[in-house]
Amino acid sequence: MKQKVRTAVFPVGGLGTRFLPATKAMPKEMLPVVDKPLIQYALEEAQAAGIENFVFVTGRGKTVIEDHFDHSYELEDTLRRRGKEKALEQIDAFVPPAGRVAYTRQMHPLGLGHAVACAAGLVGREPFAVLLADDLILSRTPCLKQMVDAYEEVGGNIVAAMEVAREDTQRYGIITTTDGVAAVAAGELVSVAGLVEKPAPDASPSRLAVIGRYILQPEVFDRLAETVPGAGGEIQLTDALAAMIGRSPFHALAFEGERFDCGDKAGFLCANLAFALARKDIGPAVAEFVGQRLMSS
Ligand code: UTP
Repeated sequence: MKQKVRTAVFPVGGLGTRFLPATKAMPKEMLPVVDKPLIQYALEEAQAAGIENFVFVTGRGKTVIEDHFDHSYELEDTLRRRGKEKALEQIDAFVPPAGRVAYTRQMHPLGLGHAVACAAGLVGREPFAVLLADDLILSRTPCLKQMVDAYEEVGGNIVAAMEVAREDTQRYGIITTTDGVAAVAAGELVSVAGLVEKPAPDASPSRLAVIGRYILQPEVFDRLAETVPGAGGEIQLTDALAAMIGRSPFHALAFEGERFDCGDKAGFLCANLAFALARKDIGPAVAEFVGQRLMSS
């Protein structure tokens, strides 16, 4: 019987330099795709996967994230008095029950590995999920739910993986599989033999990239404590993960769905378009505008 994944960690302490000036005073995770901040998509994805506890590792802009996941009595009261039931539901439905959300401050943005290590005391010695809100995934089944289903079969550590273009390998952690396959079909679970951070295209062992969804065993905190700063002077989560391969089961799930890098301006705009086009209410208007614009250019 596998120990249930009850807690999700959301590292939101990055500087978001690729998205300046929008991220000067606001964390990039609060950028909205259509009408919802990225961090709310991530939290709802975790809720849909059965997660009960939510840990945010914050940096700047902590209060705006805290306020978003709290009740807003003044706003709620006004909406109630005006009979705006739908708007009330939109600001209330996703707020977790009291006592289920915790915040800790990273203090210095020393890398994703450091951010995850900051959550150690709040997670305890049990498996947990990590979601990077700037990786937004449009899928039929929420990506983390796909991973939890796979975890219930194989246990251990699971990362979400997708194929990337060879020239892009230097932007990701790249895995090699135990049976050396170079391509995986959506929904396939493969055993991981190796993991390297941001290899150059000609040195990359494969094109299978890890993206921002993880189910990890608590031993990762021990490995992180031993991890010295790697690429870019940051404490890399990839280095700690690589140190766990061979010690406990380690799989990659080629999730079903389309992933958008919303930490990047073009990726963020594509996400807005894809999510808007998928919506019944605004999709037709957006499609018409895009169609006309493309015809006239
Ligand atoms: P990124 O690699 O996108 O870095 O972080 P960044 O600083 O946020 O953004 P850029 O590259 O300067 O534009 C990946 C994830 O890790 C978190 C970020 O918030 C993001 O969700 N992170 C990164 C931290 O929480 N702390 C860090 O020190 C670094």
